[in-house]
Amino acid sequence: MRRTSSARVPRATALNGKGYAVPHAQSQTQPDVQPNALPWGRRYVMVRPDHFRVDYRINPYMDLDDQPDPGRAMAQWVGLVSAIERLGGTVEVVPQRPDAPDMVYAMNLGLGLVRPDGGTHVVLSHMRYAERRMETQTAQPWFERSGRSTSYVGRDGVGAHLEAGDVFAWGDALVAGYGPRTEELALKHLATDLEVRVRGVRITHPAMYHLDLAFCPLDERRAMVAPGAFDHASASALLGLVPEPLLLTDEEALTTFCANSIVIGRTVLMPAGAPARVTAQLEDWDFEVVEVEVDEFHKGGGSVRCLTNPIDVTLGRDVPVVPGGEVLVPAV
Ligand code: ARG
Repeated sequence: MRRTSSARVPRATALNGKGYAVPHAQSQTQPDVQPNALPWGRRYVMVRPDHFRVDYRINPYMDLDDQPDPGRAMAQWVGLVSAIERLGGTVEVVPQRPDAPDMVYAMNLGLGLVRPDGGTHVVLSHMRYAERRMETQTAQPWFERSGRSTSYVGRDGVGAHLEAGDVFAWGDALVAGYGPRTEELALKHLATDLEVRVRGVRITHPAMYHLDLAFCPLDERRAMVAPGAFDHASASALLGLVPEPLLLTDEEALTTFCANSIVIGRTVLMPAGAPARVTAQLEDWDFEVVEVEVDEFHKGGGSVRCLTNPIDVTLGRDVPVVPGGEVLVPAV
């Protein structure tokens, strides 16, 4: 599916009516050199779906009368692991608690980071809904046993809520969605605890309750963005951070989960059924698109990104260190 020559042709020129050479219109927005691939997104933590069910309704997708088929869900999860490994990624597996059906959405266990000295750390999530809070009671010792230090910004219902599906390394900061799940106060804790800049964007759409349903970094200049997830000020702030956005309509994001994709080098691993317009643009940008069937997990309100937690985001490389930390939130 990789397109070869056309996306890499040198800047075209054309003659205007007066015979002067003017740059081709497209060359003003397309750099001559392919932007660098994301350095992170090669190492993942996932949770094996041994107890995946829809037991409660904490997002608009969940319907207790539409239960996942356990065998099909497991086969889809195994297919996702194989796809990641085929692309050179690695997967570490955390066992699922029987009482935590949503734990399969491993993205929300916590925010994994590599420190500048190479040490690894996880800021554990403090879930908005009590139904998911027990997940970190299993994840925390698992991360510690695997050699990572852990911390919280709040826990057991006390303090700020943070759900890691709301946080991405992007540009000069961690971009953090807040509103439906993560609270604005968590951004302050992240910034000061990690000594980074945090750029907050307010999520207002009830069905795009995590940032990873509306934003997907693709390479150092490009990201998929569904502006309809955010209030006006935050949508423009986010678009201002993305030199070349691939804009998604609400319908595209909501019905296909296409923003809930992961990127390994120049391959975008997407849920099957992504809009042709979106995959065509990705291929035009010289990404390879690989689709995986994960629709059993759409019943709980998550897709490829939610099922995978990247643990190789590196401070000082992917997010600059800012002594004391800094939070920037658009004025409404
Ligand atoms: N049922 C889960 C919840 O509502 C879905 C989580 C989706 N995960 C994500 N990273 N968007 O919490």
